[in-house]
Amino acid sequence: MNQFDYFKKRSKKYDLINQKKFWYFSDEILWYYLEKYISDIYLKKNEIILLDAGCGTGKWSKLISEKYPRIKIYAIDINEYMLSKAKEVNNDNIEYLNGDILKLPFIDHFFDIVISIHALPFTNDIMKGIDELVRVGKNEGFIGFTLFNAYDAISLNNLTDNVNKNNEIILLNKGYIIDKPLQYFTFSSDFEKFSQKKNYYIKDMFSYPSSCTNGVREKITSKNHSISDILAVEENYQTIFTNEIDIINKYKPKDRGMYIFCVLGK
Ligand SMILES: C[S@@+](CC[C@H](N)C(=O)[O-])C[C@H]1O[C@@H](n2cnc3c(N)ncnc32)[C@H](O)[C@@H]1O
Repeated sequence: MNQFDYFKKRSKKYDLINQKKFWYFSDEILWYYLEKYISDIYLKKNEIILLDAGCGTGKWSKLISEKYPRIKIYAIDINEYMLSKAKEVNNDNIEYLNGDILKLPFIDHFFDIVISIHALPFTNDIMKGIDELVRVGKNEGFIGFTLFNAYDAISLNNLTDNVNKNNEIILLNKGYIIDKPLQYFTFSSDFEKFSQKKNYYIKDMFSYPSSCTNGVREKITSKNHSISDILAVEENYQTIFTNEIDIINKYKPKDRGMYIFCVLGK
């Protein structure tokens, strides 16, 4: 299914994803780290402008706006159906715009903070997208975004007997993952090489979550108990969450886990 139609179709129910414990868990790990960077700038600066690129239904913009009301947020997405869902909740601090990450309608170094969560992998040129995020970000701020981890995609493909021999771009567009738009996966090492070439400073980088993988694999590996079922038990949730944070803090893993969180800055 093409990407526009996919998100158009999903827009009305997109926010329900938060009810699935696995996705909630995964985003909570991301927020644990992302918030540290945001609060750090919030303490230091009075007027802060943030870009949320590929904002979807505005989940991250709304969360940030609630907790950090001084921040002025521009939230941009290519899909007006996702945006109209986002706009159902009024918020004076957030301005929603229809536009493309690959061609951001902003002048250079306009934003103190730039975030792009789970959006770049849906564009057909991730590196150009990163260049755009860097271009509009201020040097003294930070640029935080997620990529989809190619190592994880390979093991998922192996598991599903659906291996792409090229291992360059793995298109999980058939087999178990049906009805999904094209998604591009990145090797952490390729991102590191790219950043080095461009002189981008990687402030932080790790992959997550490790102990469990995405909703597709959970169905394959455990028909009766999905990882969301396991996480629904509060005690399990806390243990798995704490383990995950410990692993990330200690090892900064890059090659396992579904997402790679990258922070560029000075
Ligand atoms: C998986 S959703 C993530 C939404 C939101 N960031 C979140 O974490 O809930 C991906 C979003 O990226 C948007 N998107 C894809 N390609 C884009 C592009 N080139 N420019 C702007 N947005 C794009 C899609 O329309 C979709 O809303």
